[in-house]
Amino acid sequence: MDLKRTHFCGDLREENIGKEVILAGWCQTRRDHGGVIFIDLRDYTGITQVVFKKEISVPAHNLADSIRGEFVLAVKGKVEHRLEGNINSKLPTGQIEILVQQLDILNQSQTPPYVLENRSNVDEKLRLTFRFLDMRDPKLQNNLMLRSKALQIVREYYTSHRFFEIETPILTKSTPEGARDYLVPSRVNPGLFYALPQSPQLFKQLLMISGYDRYMQLARCFRDEDLRGNRQPEFTQIDLELSFTDPEEIFELTEGLMAKLFKEIMGLEIVSPFPRLTYKQAMEDYGSDAPDIRFELKLRDISDIASECELRVFNEVVEKGGIVKAICVPGGAEFSRKELDDLTEFSKIFGAKGMAWIKKYQDGWQSPIGKFFTDVQKKMLEERVGLNEGDLVLFCADKEKIVYDTLGNLRKEIANRRGLVDQNEFRFVWVTDFPLFEYSDEEKSYTSSHHPFTMPDLDDLEKFGDNAPEKIRSLAYDVVLNGVELGGGSIRIHRKDVQQKGFSLLNLSEQDMKNKFGFLMEALTYGAPPHGGIALGFDRIMMFLLKTDSIRDVIAFPKTQKAGCLMTEAPSAVDIEQLDELYIRVKASAQQAE
Ligand code: AMO
Ligand code: AMP
Repeated sequence: MDLKRTHFCGDLREENIGKEVILAGWCQTRRDHGGVIFIDLRDYTGITQVVFKKEISVPAHNLADSIRGEFVLAVKGKVEHRLEGNINSKLPTGQIEILVQQLDILNQSQTPPYVLENRSNVDEKLRLTFRFLDMRDPKLQNNLMLRSKALQIVREYYTSHRFFEIETPILTKSTPEGARDYLVPSRVNPGLFYALPQSPQLFKQLLMISGYDRYMQLARCFRDEDLRGNRQPEFTQIDLELSFTDPEEIFELTEGLMAKLFKEIMGLEIVSPFPRLTYKQAMEDYGSDAPDIRFELKLRDISDIASECELRVFNEVVEKGGIVKAICVPGGAEFSRKELDDLTEFSKIFGAKGMAWIKKYQDGWQSPIGKFFTDVQKKMLEERVGLNEGDLVLFCADKEKIVYDTLGNLRKEIANRRGLVDQNEFRFVWVTDFPLFEYSDEEKSYTSSHHPFTMPDLDDLEKFGDNAPEKIRSLAYDVVLNGVELGGGSIRIHRKDVQQKGFSLLNLSEQDMKNKFGFLMEALTYGAPPHGGIALGFDRIMMFLLKTDSIRDVIAFPKTQKAGCLMTEAPSAVDIEQLDELYIRVKASAQQAE
């Protein structure tokens, strides 16, 4: 390259006028005004207008004639003031232009498959197929550069708090985090497989046992699970583990990091400490273990009133051990019949069988269920849910899980519809005291709510142990922001007997324990210190910092909902020889599996 760049395309200002400079970049646009050709030259820092005039350089001007969009150029020229009418106050470089003396066309470009500046109107599939072009977009470039900055902040924060950054294996054994594993066959061990880590959970615990005291890693994790809005099959965690710690210390460190990230990336002050809710409170008030606390619309229990009233569906639900809960929507009496029907349909997604409602007007209730309540019951109900004139109450009667799911989602839906959600507000909350286990109706057994290495509340363990494992609380916590789970962690089991007990409640036989977690059980017998930690979903944090709803906007090469990469066409078929080497025979093709 003859022309070695002296400045970036976003650098030059009025004070540089008169200077000779060399810029390099891509041709964003080219305008030909006869004897004068204007090109907007772009790199990641911005755009500079470069001007080719015959009277300055005939060869450069002639060459410029052949330039098309996305050609790669280097230009040498003088910084000049733009003519009065040509000043562009929207561009930081809008006062100046470069009068080109020499041009080097470093590479040509085909016409892009879509107009790059018009990205938001283009089918995402096409953009993901041409991701290398998509990422030329200044907004995406800005996202990924801020992601890079955030990574530096995270590293710097934890190393200044005496954490060591330690890398853990990618080819490893299954770690139970609740998703399916991605498997990798071993050529040298026919028939055997590695699993890609769902998280570095066991390795970080082993590092504590090895005496490293505080570990952190920007860890790539792999989970074969249903991909929804803020999930990718591979993603990044800010993963931590600390020895001789307690939840308070982990909360404080996490709050400190969030404050720093929001300050340095967004210029926002985050208030700490974050409020806390127990899992029980979160479920009862918000119907969710990841509550959005930017708005109220809390759930109120009216099971006692429901069991007394004359409405059979309500009585029956309570008799069968279910619950009846209500949400009061201030001003909701103005909801039309159609809106109520829409909300009823919405609630059915979550298994609700109906959605009784009350509107309160000056002259009393309007409601399909009003006649089933006595005046005394009406009064009690109004007081319980805070029903005033002009308000609406919505009910759900069912099994606890369905009621929480339905009303938890309904409250968010209503808040969105009524514009109760302030998009500029960031409300963190810690959710604590998660149950150790959840009962799975499908599998007819208990599964870990967090993971099997989470320390139970030892009093609960003793009290409920084998009789009512679902009542055992754990030392697990999540950090939630605006209704999104950002991270989760726990204090871990560091005693072998407790770990054994936990596994046995999960129906793991001695043999299973040995096969799956023998190394952990062994390590716990060699002086394991008390320890605990947390993992924060880095991609999700970036979504907030960059104010985007799409996780694909914060990852350079994201995957689709079917876990594919449209650009590289991964996953893809492999040669039969490659399979033979791995001792693998494929039973079905992708088409057959559909
Ligand atoms: P957990 O499974 O809760 O905990 O994961 C921690 C955080 O990782 C993020 N996350 C994801 N982000 C994007 N795509 C996904 N598919 C995805 N899955 C999870 C979430 C989540 O809160 N080992 C434990 C942590 C610990 O106990 O220290 C763990 O992985 O933001
Ligand atoms: P019904 O007696 O079935 O006509 O129901 C009377 C009202 O109660 C209707 O508005 C239904 O939508 C509502 N409803 C029925 N089942 C439930 C339920 N499980 N939870 C809340 N409301 C219900």
